[in-house]
Amino acid sequence: MIKEDTIKQLINEALHARNHAYAPYSQFMVGAALITEDDSVYRGCNVENASYGATNCAERTAIFKAVSEGERLIKAIAIVGGVKDGDMTYAYPCGVCRQVLREFSNPGDLVIIVAKNQDDYKTYSLEELLPESFGPDFKSAK
Ligand code: THU
Repeated sequence: MIKEDTIKQLINEALHARNHAYAPYSQFMVGAALITEDDSVYRGCNVENASYGATNCAERTAIFKAVSEGERLIKAIAIVGGVKDGDMTYAYPCGVCRQVLREFSNPGDLVIIVAKNQDDYKTYSLEELLPESFGPDFKSAK
């Protein structure tokens, strides 16, 4: 179980991360903040590219920052998004980000928080957003 205080903290961190979003092509600004098993918090924003396919989502920015610092287990992630200077929307993680989250979490335990602000959010498990998934527990045949 994750505390409501932690949820609100992660949303706040994600909103700060969103300020750094680099989205000159879509104007869709996304921020993410995750907490790991040792209660470290990592933030990320989307980073677009003139060659659109080279864009990195906010979630993966945060995940790769955490993993590259030695983290391996994510407990919760908050995501905030919306068009620049527009209203916030519920920004659901894309399929690729869901699969990357699958690699570094327990799908039934990972809390995914999709928020407009600290008082307006929804929570899901990864199991709900990525059912019947493939992950690192499927060992390859020897
Ligand atoms: N984006 C994210 O950062 N996270 C998501 O979950 C959905 C999409 C970004 C990628 C791109 O920079 C912009 O939003 C529009 O697709």
